[in-house]
Formats: sequence, C-alpha cells, structure tokens
Amino acid sequence: MNVFYITTPIYYPNAPPHVGHAYTTVFADTLARYKRLMGYNVLFLTGNDEHGLKIQKVAEKQGKTPKEFTDEMAEVFKNYWRSLDVNYDHFIRTTDEYHEKTVSEAFSYIYKKGLIYKAKYAGLYCVDCEKYYSPGEYVEIEGKPHCPLHNKPLEYMEEETYYFKLSDFKDYLLDVLNNREIVYPRSYAEEVLSKINKEGLRDLSIARPVERVWWGIPVPFDKNYVIYVWFDALLNYISAIGYLNDNEKFSKYWSNVHHVIGKDILWFHTVVWFSILKALDIDPPRKVIVHAFLTSKGTKMSKSVGNVISIEEMLDRYGSPDAVRYVLMRIFNMDKDSEFDFELVDSIYNSELADTYGNLVRRAGVLAQKKTDGKIYRRNIDSKIKDELENKLNAYIDAMENFEVARGASLAIDVARLGNQYLNETKPWEKKDPSKELYTVLETIRLATILLYPFTPRISNLVAKAFGFTVENPLKATLESIERYNVTNAPILYKKISLKK
Ligand code: MSP
Repeated sequence: MNVFYITTPIYYPNAPPHVGHAYTTVFADTLARYKRLMGYNVLFLTGNDEHGLKIQKVAEKQGKTPKEFTDEMAEVFKNYWRSLDVNYDHFIRTTDEYHEKTVSEAFSYIYKKGLIYKAKYAGLYCVDCEKYYSPGEYVEIEGKPHCPLHNKPLEYMEEETYYFKLSDFKDYLLDVLNNREIVYPRSYAEEVLSKINKEGLRDLSIARPVERVWWGIPVPFDKNYVIYVWFDALLNYISAIGYLNDNEKFSKYWSNVHHVIGKDILWFHTVVWFSILKALDIDPPRKVIVHAFLTSKGTKMSKSVGNVISIEEMLDRYGSPDAVRYVLMRIFNMDKDSEFDFELVDSIYNSELADTYGNLVRRAGVLAQKKTDGKIYRRNIDSKIKDELENKLNAYIDAMENFEVARGASLAIDVARLGNQYLNETKPWEKKDPSKELYTVLETIRLATILLYPFTPRISNLVAKAFGFTVENPLKATLESIERYNVTNAPILYKKISLKK
C-alpha cells in the first residue's frame, strides 16, 4: 500500500493553540483524511516542542516545574485537536524518552563526523529574553541597538557554544533547492535561494551553556551544555518514525514525508533541516508545503500581538467542528496572507454550508421521505449532469493532489450546487413518481458528501448514514453504483447565522 507521511510543526506549548495553529493542523488533517480516503497508508504526526528557555520561564512564573507544566499543556493541545476532529496518528513530545535518546545519538554522530565544533559566540544580548539578537532582528533607538520586545539596550556578551558547520552545506543546498521540487509553492524555494545568495551561510549555534538554559537535552559528551531547541525540535520528524530504532519503519515513512509549515519557519525547515539531514546521511524530505499567515486586523495572528481569535469562539459561532474546519480551509492560502474577517467567513458559511449543501440535503431528504417513503431505486442519470459531475470530480482530485484545499472545498460545493439546480429545474415535488429525479439528486449529494469528507468528516458520515450510502474513495464511488438509497432522516446540518451589519 502506498505510504503518506504528513507532519505539522510541533508547537510551543507556552500558551494554548489559537486559530492560527488550527489553520496549519486542520490543513494537515484534511490532507491526511483525503489520502486515507484515496487508499493510502497514512501516518499523521503532530506534537509539542517542549524544551528551551521560553517554556522554562513560563513554567517558573506559574510556580511549576517545566515537566509539570508541559504535561498539562500536552493535554490542553490534545483536547483542542479533538474538539476540531483532528485525527493524528501520533502526538510527539520532545520530552519523550525515545526522542531525547535519538537527539542525543544524532548529535554525537554529527560531532564525530567533525561537523560540530566548540567556539566562542559573541553578540548583542538581551538579558530579559536571554537571547542574542543579530542585525535586522534588533531595533535601533538613538543609534543604539535595543531589544525589539523589551525596548532595552542590548549588551555585548560572549560565551562558548557548540556550532554546527552549516556553511559546509552551501553547494548541497543550492543544488537541492534549485533542482528538486521539494518546497511548495516554488516561490518559497526562490526566497530561500536568494537569501543564501545574498547573505551566505553562517555556522549555527546548536548548544548553550547549562547556566543559561537548563531545560533541554544535555550534550551527550559535555554535561555543561544543553542542545538548542531547533536542533532538538527538527529531529522529531525522524525520531517519531523510528530513526535509529526501527530502520524498516523509518525508511518506509521517510520515503514519502510531507512537512506542513507556516512561512515563519521556512529557513529552519529548508536550510537548517536539509543540512542536518545531509549530515546524518538522510535524503531531504519529499515535500515541504508552506502556507502564508492568517492575519487579523492586518497583522499575523499571534499571542504577543494580542489579535488572536480563539478556537472556542469559532466553535461557538459556527456550531460544529466541521463548519470551523470548512471555513478555515476555504480561506486557506499558501502564497498570500489571509485576513480573518468575520463578515467574509460568515457569508461563506451561510451561502456554502447552510444555503447550498445543507439546504440540498434537507430538501432532498424531506422529498424522498414524502414521495417514496425514503426508498429510491437505481435509475439512469441524464448524461449532461453526469458529465458535469465527472468534471467536478476530476478537478477536485487535481486540486487536492496539489494541496489546494480551498479549491477542493469549492468544487465539492459546486457539486451540491448542481444538485440544487437540477432540483429546481425538474421540480420533483410536482411529480407523482419522481424516482428518477430523486435518484439523480441523491447521487449529487453522495458525491458532494464524499468530496467534503476531508473537510467535514462528522457531517459527511452523518449524511451517509441518514441516506444509506458509504463514504469511500471518490474514484471508486462511480455514479449509478448505488442500487437503492434508504433515506431515514432529513437532517438540518448547518443553521444560518445572522450576518453582521
Ligand atoms: N516550535 C516551533 C516549530 C518547530 S517544528 C520542528 C514553532 N512553534 S510555534 O508554536 O510558534 O508554531 C509556529 C507555527 O504555527 C507556524 O509555522 C504556523 O504553522 C502556525 N501558526 C501560528 N500562527 C499562525 C498564523 N497567524 N497564521 C498561520 N499559521 C500560524 O515555531
């Protein structure tokens, strides 16, 4: 069976996830569900990035140990994902023992190859952040460098750290980024290439003195140092599938790995990650799928800006995980930031889910029960509508294979739209025996329901049950293959919400 391995970034659990994180996770879940439907053996990985200063500090503030704090937060994240029907196969935590062991062994392996060395690190430091800032990251106030978060002057500091020889990988990276179609959309690969060409590659600090950060994985051969979070975090993608433990499993899933990320962590997932992999003699990933930001009031939704929309608010407003998932995927965009505007999202919800798909299911269900006692036997479908449905199906497969979920969702609704049109034109309610018309309409509902399944799994299953069919591989769900529908319920799926003035 074909394998499909898909990952989300592992999130910092310093705060609960918001709609920005849900944007990524629901996207990955939608692709995972689509691939399962298409018959793939899917492994969908998500999890939390639990080490490092940020977490150490939040825990301290709350009077907890980092372990206590991250244990609690892991449950918080899992509950949020459950509330959105996110069906991951494995939830990794960087404090998991197997992960720590893999990181430590990988660090030693790269060190032995001579690609990690100890040297002085000097730079401008913010004592409050406990972090170095490089030019471009800090702000200048009266000509002097200041911390962008604390507005305090930065101090010149030095420390001994371990470096990873990133600069050794320049030719390799240029070759991979130029010649292999890994980064998707391609424009992000160009962005990374131009940054490498403009700025070159500097070696990367990958361990810090334990006095500065103690919450992390120790350098195996030098207990005075702790491995830096990014090196630790990136390795989750391979430790989770048995790297250094279960070779067979590792090779099987790695051969078709798809990383989903936001554009903020593009550099780490290309330059840094591909180089670490090369140092470990591992091929680069099959695909890195990058998306743009979800913005609110024009800026990236983020806790520090204070413009986040909460997942609870979305669930309350739209009434079901399915609706929330659908609207998020309908505004999903890889190239451009998407502004989260309630007016727009309300109108998508009302016109597509309530008025088009929901209304079709309700009308057809009521009619079928009234006219034929819910039992509708196979008839031939008019070739015109059959062709139209097949075109929509093919376009949908094309969209989903290219990770274009917004287009996929629209095409599924187009199918429902065809059903409504057909219903309006043929007026089965005026006929004594409208079996032919109803059979055709139910076929449009079946197709729309199957195509919507990756977005709205719960509601698709509910409709399939109410109408007597199964959600299956869309390529196998050929038209006119159902011998008899048995409509036992005509559910109201999505209640309209009143539009904001
Ligand atoms: N822990 C690192 C990732 C390590 S992966 C080996 C991290 N964590 S994070 O909690 O900050 O999550 C960042 C990711 O969350 C982004 O790349 C993106 O996938 C998602 N998003 C967070 N806010 C978002 C928006 N406002 N819009 C879109 N995606 C958002 O970085």
